[in-house]
Amino acid sequence: MKKPLYISAMLAMAALTTIVLLKFVILGKTGEVGDDGRTPVILTEHERDYVLAEMRGLIEGLVAMNEAALDNDTQAFGSAAKSLGMHANPSAETTSVMGKLPVGFKVMGVGLHKDFDKIAALAKSGATITELQRALTDNMYKCVACHASYKIEAE
Ligand code: HEC
Repeated sequence: MKKPLYISAMLAMAALTTIVLLKFVILGKTGEVGDDGRTPVILTEHERDYVLAEMRGLIEGLVAMNEAALDNDTQAFGSAAKSLGMHANPSAETTSVMGKLPVGFKVMGVGLHKDFDKIAALAKSGATITELQRALTDNMYKCVACHASYKIEAE
């Protein structure tokens, strides 16, 4: 039996909506992969500055964790890790940037912050400095992997 035209039109619209949604959710706002193999994520200048400032905050947290390790201070190590964990109230910038990030970027970014929360919990549960450093080093492979995969371009 032939489908009425409006049903075919509705199906076509639904398919189109799904494709558009998938494109934005999976690819985010990205450009062509460069010669260096990295995918550019296209952000506004303000959003790029925001992300880069967050990145510099990560380095500060790593320095604090290293200092804590040198002092054999597991509690200070845990609080430095906690400061890089998931924040209860994401800022307006986080929300607008999240909409433009490709899914791989989001998975690594969210995974990174969640694992800093896990490191903070490990510190509370009595882990040694060596155990905390092991968990931190494992987490830092996400820095390496994401930097090898993505760069930021301002629109
Ligand atoms: C989910 C992806 C992702 C993860 C995870 C990630 N970064 Fe980045 N980071 C980026 C991108 C993209 C840039 C911009 C690179 C470019 O445009 O060349 C960047 C830039 C930086 C910069 C440069 C900041 C500036 O002012 O120019 C630093 C420092 C940095 N990251 C540190 C880290 C550290 C440390 C970690 C891990 C603890 C980390 N990042 C994890 C994606 C990531």
